[in-house]
Amino acid sequence: MDVYLDNAATTFPKPLAVPQAIYDYIINNGGTSGRGSYEKAILADGLVYQTRRTLAKLFNHADPKTVVFTASVTEALNLALTGILKPGDHVVTSSLEHNAVWRCLKTMERDIGISISIVPATPDGETSSEDVKKAITPKTRLIVFTHASNVLGTIQPIAAIGALAKENNILFLVDAAQTAGVLPIDVQAQKIDLLAFTGHKSLLGPMGTGGLVVNCDVPIKPLISGGTGGDSAYEYQPDYYPNHLEAGTMNVSGIIGLKAALDFLNAEGIANIRNKEDQLMNYALEALQTVPGIELYGPQNAAKTVGVIPFNLINHAPEEIAFFLDQQCHVMIRSGLHCAPSAHRLIGTISRGTCRIGIGYFNDPSHIDALINGLNAYIKENK
Ligand SMILES: Cc1ncc(COP(=O)(O)O)c(C=O)c1O
Repeated sequence: MDVYLDNAATTFPKPLAVPQAIYDYIINNGGTSGRGSYEKAILADGLVYQTRRTLAKLFNHADPKTVVFTASVTEALNLALTGILKPGDHVVTSSLEHNAVWRCLKTMERDIGISISIVPATPDGETSSEDVKKAITPKTRLIVFTHASNVLGTIQPIAAIGALAKENNILFLVDAAQTAGVLPIDVQAQKIDLLAFTGHKSLLGPMGTGGLVVNCDVPIKPLISGGTGGDSAYEYQPDYYPNHLEAGTMNVSGIIGLKAALDFLNAEGIANIRNKEDQLMNYALEALQTVPGIELYGPQNAAKTVGVIPFNLINHAPEEIAFFLDQQCHVMIRSGLHCAPSAHRLIGTISRGTCRIGIGYFNDPSHIDALINGLNAYIKENK
């Protein structure tokens, strides 16, 4: 039996309806969206619009037109940051950010002279809106925060930070890579101006899908320019949504797959999904504690995290453990640094990294049992 426990990287498997919808579109339609006027192209366009609408509903966003598709959450974050920030702007961020945020900010600091303040976190990955408040200066233009750390799983106080941002007239950008599909997100109640999401993690859709929900009027410079299927004689990117921030032929097959995934999520219910993952987290946390020489990181409390558990075995390299688990036990986990170096600094694992399991909706307790058996077998062989 293959056991997949790397769902924080990407979820696997997908609901069967996802590949079926993609197959059906490619075999039976194949038309591009927003370009042709024949029936199949109009059908494809309608499916893309329905996907925007389903996403808008999921995030309680009022206007589907301002749900902009990108190829990934990385692209969505880069679009928001590079499209909004100007020389001299100050940004407040967390010490848990993925490189999708961090490298983009550092590049803008070096190349155009933005400045960055980093809000501290405890070794469990907890931050406070009070510390965010202290970091705000008169030049603060934007706060960017991950909704949950991909290294520690810790959920961040997004609603409190959103309220603070609103009070201070500062834009609030949230990286929902680890939370969309598993935690409720409400851009209006949580005062999120810009929400970057990915399709291929807990939304259970295909890779190559993601987007930016634009819940504010701020001008955003497009990341790319090109064809939009309309106003073709106009020599610049149109200023209306979604075309303003979408250029080139869209990933219609991926978006249709994402729509099937969203329909699955809605049918199952996000609260039920969260509940199942929480129960598995508790089961896994308890079981992992029985493994000799294990070091667990993060809050070790399902209510405070998404389904991510980082750990090490004292005196063993994470890569060797993950290799053994894969080759000998068919258990797939992640090892190393998970693209968020400052989160590793918090827990003292910047040089060696960690093992990480990512629990998903399709895991069950037998998968955790296989992991624990594998870890015990590794310890026995590598005393
Ligand atoms: C918190 C967070 N942000 C951003 C990303 C980047 O996702 P992608 O590589 O799919 O763009 C990830 C992926 O692991 C993540 O966990």
